[in-house]
Amino acid sequence: MRINRTRLKRERIAILTGGGDCPGINAVIRAVAKKAIIEKDMEVIGIEDGYHGVINNQYRILHYEDVSGILTLGGTILGTSKTANPYRYPLKKRGKLEFQDRSKIAIQNINKHDVSCLVCIGGDGTLSIAHRLFEDGVPIIGLPKTIDNDLRGTDITFGFDSAVSIATEGIDRIHTTAQSHHRVMIVEVMGHRAGWVALYSGVAAGGDIILIPEIPYDINVITEKVNERNKKGKRFSIVVVAEGAKPKGGDMVIQRIVKESSDPIRLGGIGFVLGEQIEKITGLETRTVVMGHLLRGGSPTSFDRILATRLGTKAVDMIGNKEFGYMVGMKKNSLVAVLLKEVARGPKTVPLNHPVIKAARSVGTCFGDD
Ligand code: F6P
Repeated sequence: MRINRTRLKRERIAILTGGGDCPGINAVIRAVAKKAIIEKDMEVIGIEDGYHGVINNQYRILHYEDVSGILTLGGTILGTSKTANPYRYPLKKRGKLEFQDRSKIAIQNINKHDVSCLVCIGGDGTLSIAHRLFEDGVPIIGLPKTIDNDLRGTDITFGFDSAVSIATEGIDRIHTTAQSHHRVMIVEVMGHRAGWVALYSGVAAGGDIILIPEIPYDINVITEKVNERNKKGKRFSIVVVAEGAKPKGGDMVIQRIVKESSDPIRLGGIGFVLGEQIEKITGLETRTVVMGHLLRGGSPTSFDRILATRLGTKAVDMIGNKEFGYMVGMKKNSLVAVLLKEVARGPKTVPLNHPVIKAARSVGTCFGDD
């Protein structure tokens, strides 16, 4: 019997991570790469620093050993970028910021690698770009990553559960010091323009007042609640506020403008605004804690590890079926393929009739609206 020793060319895939990091990214990189290597004998390329690496051709081969031992690791082993949009790439020329369309170079670079799929792990910004690249001919599958949980087409994103659990622990710790000092304590949490993190951590930690962007607040309603608690002998109050919360008829508080970014507004600071107002109106000593990027760091929860593993391995099945132009999502605990076009339609905010809001109202939680 003659043995054909000609080695068949291995199928190749590439992975990138874009946007803000979160716990669970390495778990999903591991899931995609391990399954691709073990079950499909594929070669896996890791693109460095998100779309920046696509434009500048920065990548490395991910061997089995590179993705082994990273399940519990926070951050992303590939690095990420929040500003590198191939269709609007920021460049400084003689000190002046300019934007250039580098998408053709990006697509050429992807083609050079001869990959059968580019797996884009990201939130709304990264996946909207992924959708454009797909429309321009790149075979793409998306994976839903963000602490904000604001992606359409999926009930949950990995990173969210970890962020909620970190925020919950933080609020629990604030609770005891609030009680001891009879203070109003305000805890500001991230979440961009959606209130998922504030709602879930606020309910989990028993926040007395939860403020989310979807329900504009009235400061007098908040201070009435604080005063009412005081009269009842509860000489402290916990306010959990989403960074995107805003007063009725007012605006969100902007912390900074990142000019290089396609979504330049960075929110933050509402906690301090509220703190001053509450102290002035109630006369009660108030302190503000901003949890910020703490929510994006460290090891993922067991829930996020499992979610990331399920989503990542499903992506490899979809590559096998050539199901491109989709994000892998989770609906009612089942894996689903969601069109990237749907994901690119904009953020998923908390619906006003959400059962968690309803349950919280039933136990006396104030949302600042009535
Ligand atoms: O989208 C993730 C997120 O952490 C948001 O919750 C937050 O508004 C934003 O990113 C912060 O961005 P940066 O990393 O640029 O400070």
